[in-house]
Parts: sequence; structure tokens; C-alpha cells
Amino acid sequence: MRVSKKAAQFTESVIRDMTRQAIHHGAVNLAQGFPDFPAPDAVKQAAQEAVAADINQYAITWGAQNFRRAIAHKFEKWQGVSIDPEREITVCCGSTEAMIATLLALADPGEEVIVFEPFYENYGPDAILSGATPRYVTLYPPSDPDGEWKFDPAELRAAFSRKTRAIIVNTPHNPTGKVFTRRELELVRDLCVEFDVLAITDEIYEHILYNNAQHISIASIEGMRARTVTINSLSKTYSVTGWRVGWAIAPPDLTAAIRKVHDFLTVGAAARLQAAGAAALDLWDAYYIESAEKYNERRTRLLDALRAVGFKAYKPSGAYYIMTDISSLGSADDRTFATRLVQEIGVASVPGSSFYGKSGGGTQQVRFAFCKRSETLDRAIGNLQKLQHS
Ligand SMILES: Cc1ncc(COP(=O)(O)O)c(C=O)c1O
Repeated sequence: MRVSKKAAQFTESVIRDMTRQAIHHGAVNLAQGFPDFPAPDAVKQAAQEAVAADINQYAITWGAQNFRRAIAHKFEKWQGVSIDPEREITVCCGSTEAMIATLLALADPGEEVIVFEPFYENYGPDAILSGATPRYVTLYPPSDPDGEWKFDPAELRAAFSRKTRAIIVNTPHNPTGKVFTRRELELVRDLCVEFDVLAITDEIYEHILYNNAQHISIASIEGMRARTVTINSLSKTYSVTGWRVGWAIAPPDLTAAIRKVHDFLTVGAAARLQAAGAAALDLWDAYYIESAEKYNERRTRLLDALRAVGFKAYKPSGAYYIMTDISSLGSADDRTFATRLVQEIGVASVPGSSFYGKSGGGTQQVRFAFCKRSETLDRAIGNLQKLQHS
């Protein structure tokens, strides 16, 4: 039997497939971005209390009120943007659902959505499912691997046209670790205003920052509040990727459409975990600082280890991935290399080409995640050293 033209246009997730391969070959999984260490005690405690309190039924479709209030409070505290939790927030099943619900609600067939490439692999299928066409703008790696990935402003401008409906900005960025600067976001703002385009931002790594990098929500930039959908989730900040709780913040008219789509997609996110989410968002500020410090140690360890065995490893300014160039490691392409790495060396990574559209980019790139316990990184680093003798 045939499948829909939409579903035929994209493949299964390469990232999730690499996780299955890691399990199959007994390799250390540095492919998928999920922490293998515990979530904060206070957050787990709140989830246990929600179970005991019999929070078992549907929450309000667009999110439990106390959770939405906590989201609004935190957004104002950290980004200075005041929002109405009654009319401007939709709680979804992870930022994954928030993104697809947003695109289904706001983009139409024939319209274009600009995506910086390399990109988190969901955005391509998300755009296709909404009927819109993704239009890619390249982020170029720095020649000095300690430098920043950059886009060419002229190429960004050339991507905007009368067909453009939205631009997706992911900052801090997966897979490159780029943190967009105020200047860069202002450039995006100028183009969004000129072409009457929406910004849809994925900010799920907002607290995972290094070297004094500062996370700026594009909604906080003058002129953007009314044309921005800000997407975030509990997944990464609180190490609960399996809880599937995220949200979209948008002006009331856009939120009304996102809520309708969300309702018919999933009805709502897990009620008891929304209750725990309210406690998570209320954590003391030191939690975010300590968590970033621990990630910084993991980043340094893996970066040094990768460089020592011959990778050109780009230093991330945010998020918990290291993008690498494998040109000097003598492999035909990223997929061959990643297959060999998982089968023979015992480390799962993600082939770079899965972060690119049809441009053929990423064939000499591979991504590693370092959101792992010290013992896990020890094992991965030990295995990677086999590369020197193979
Ligand atoms: C940039 C980005 N957005 C979204 C997600 C998925 O987030 P969630 O668990 O909130 O659906 C990921 C997961 O790796 C990601 O890297």
C-alpha cells in the first residue's frame, strides 16, 4: 500500500536510529542528546507528590494554570518579556510538538520557512508536514576550531522573499553550539520586519552556556514581541527528556491557532509532570549556574579527547554537543565513519549529513553529545583512543 507524499519525503530520524545501533552493538551512546545522570531531587519529588495527589486526569488542553504561570514568571525574570499566561502560552508534549503545532498552525503550502543549516533534524520534516518549503541558510564553520560558526548576512537577506512565512532560530544551537549574538538577532529582526515574517525560536538549551556567552530571546528584541513564537521545554534544562513537556509562547492571535492544532494533535501533555514542571521552573538560580559548570567540565574533557585522536573539534559556546570535522581521519564519508565508529570502536555519534538539507553538506562532519556521566565519558574516551591504532 502507498504512503502519503508527505511521509515519503523524509527518512526516519538518524539520531534515534544511532541510539538503536548503540544498544545493538553495545557502544557508548554519544549520539542522542539525553543525559544519563539523575534529574534534580526537587523536581523528582514534585513528580512523586503529583502522583500521590491523584493528578491523573487531563490537564487544561493548553496547560495547567500553575505551570503556565511559572513559565510566564520565569520568562519575565530571565528575558524581561512580560506575557499573559492565560492567552499566550500553549503547553505541549515537548518542544517537538510545540514546533510542529506552531508550523501547522501558522504556515501554509507554498510558503517558505528559513532554517539555518546545519539544523536539528526535526525542522525539515516539520516544515514538510506543514506543507511549507524549507529554505536553508548556511552556518559556516570557523577556520580556527575555537571560533564561532557564522552566516553570511547577504545570503540571509537573499533567502527572504514574499513567500517567506517564518524563520526558525535555534539558539543555543544544535549541532554547532553557536549562541546567536544580539547583533545577529537584530539582523534577523530587521529582515523579519521588512518582509513581515515570523520568528520561531527553539531555546531549549538556554541555560547551557560557556565562556560567558549570553542567551538572548529574540522576543526580547525591540519589534519582535508581536511576531515571535518562543519554544522551550523541560527536557534539557532539567534532564527529563522522557517527560515530554514543552511549550510555545506567542501573542494571543497566534496562540489561539497553536492551541487548536495542539488540542487535536495530543489533547495535552502529562498532567502530573506539568505539576512537577511548575516546581522545576521555580528552582533556585544557582541550579542553572552549577549545571552549566558541570557541562563545561564535560565539554573540555571530550573536546581534548577528540582533538587528541585527530578530529578537528569545534568548541561550542552553548548546548551539549561537539561538531567535528573528520577529514584528517581518512574515511569516505560521515555515514561510513559513524558506522565504523559504532561497530568497531564502540562509540555512537551522529553523521553530519543528517543535519543538512539537500545541499550535500556535512559529509565530513560527525556530532558527539557530552551530556553524560563521567564514567560514560571515560568509556567513550577509552574507546576513541582505539582510533589511533586502527
Ligand atoms: C534543538 C532541539 N530542539 C528540540 C529538541 C527536542 O526537544 P523536546 O524533548 O523538548 O521535544 C532537541 C532534542 O535534542 C533539540 O536538540
